[in-house]
Amino acid sequence: MEMLRDDDIDPSPLEGKRVAILGYGNQGRAQSLNLNDSGVDVVVGLRGGSGSTIEVEAAGLQTALIEDAVASADVVMLLAPDEIHGALYREIEPRLRQGAALGFSHGLSVRFGMVQPRADLDVFLIAPKGPGTALRSLYRDGKGMIALWAVEQDATGGARGIALAYGRAIGCARAGLIGSSFAEEADADLFNEQAVVWGGVPELLIAGFDTLVAGGISPEVAFLECVGELKLIAELIEARGIAGMREVISNTAELGALLGGTRIVDASVRERMAEVLREVREGRFADELRKEEASGYDRLDQARSAARKTLLEETFRRLDQPSD
Ligand SMILES: NC(=O)c1ccc[n+]([C@@H]2O[C@H](COP(=O)([O-])OP(=O)(O)OC[C@H]3O[C@@H](n4cnc5c(N)ncnc54)[C@H](OP(=O)(O)O)[C@@H]3O)[C@@H](O)[C@H]2O)c1
Repeated sequence: MEMLRDDDIDPSPLEGKRVAILGYGNQGRAQSLNLNDSGVDVVVGLRGGSGSTIEVEAAGLQTALIEDAVASADVVMLLAPDEIHGALYREIEPRLRQGAALGFSHGLSVRFGMVQPRADLDVFLIAPKGPGTALRSLYRDGKGMIALWAVEQDATGGARGIALAYGRAIGCARAGLIGSSFAEEADADLFNEQAVVWGGVPELLIAGFDTLVAGGISPEVAFLECVGELKLIAELIEARGIAGMREVISNTAELGALLGGTRIVDASVRERMAEVLREVREGRFADELRKEEASGYDRLDQARSAARKTLLEETFRRLDQPSD
């Protein structure tokens, strides 16, 4: 695996070029501001009547309607939600300059055919491995967030140079850029979202909380044990790795983890993980995402409101409120 850092990367492919960022959400905001602070000519493309216009202008960035931003740019970065990339791309395709570069921060929409870029375009990926808020705060602290990079289509011969210069300008090459592909990035990211950090871990916390409460433990104690300690282990793993984390906890906790961990996450869990990865690769999650968008986000809305009404959430709110 090749890890590229600032000194390995030529920033000149972006010199004299204009970058249009489409979407000023979590990633769009961070990437626009970082590019601007790195001296890149940035314009933020927004839809007519967008509520973000005031905020973008207050941040000192140029704004334009999406179609005008695209027509004026050498590099166009699609930073709107993944499920609307297909419709957005179809809308902007006639405005994209010949030989322009089209960038993404997630491989999903290209990997699963929602976007089929024109043959004359360079198509690249810079996928920061974390939220935009952290991408921005790390940049301001003189640090960076590790990112994956890839080229899907190199129509001009310059796609690699543009991708790396872009990753450098948003600060990611301070930490490192790792070569990947749209398929690898999308598959791994979608797998993790379902099976590990964003899907598996919260369900494990909820199941642990429910089990303790059903066993007669008070909700407050159950919450502090099963949910409240997550930050501690995350920080230890980040600083020391998993083996290093285990070395600094008490013998009691270490033995408990040794006996209990593989009993809970047993072979059947690994089998279902392999199933999730298979389904992701077959495009089944991408189909679900398309359906969700088409339904007006019904399932997500229902799940959000149900999640707010649980005993775990009530307990969180109680513990979160400082007493007088
Ligand atoms: N969230 C993350 O931290 C993260 C991390 C790594 C990679 N990514 C990737 O980065 C990309 C952007 O994700 P995000 O979470 O930053 O998105 P987001 O916050 O949901 O994006 C919101 C922005 O998209 C615009 N938008 C929404 N619907 C639109 C439409 N139909 N037409 C035009 N603009 C529209 C919104 O416009 P208005 O301002 O007008 O409402 C808003 O500016 C995705 O590919 C995602 O997978 C995200």
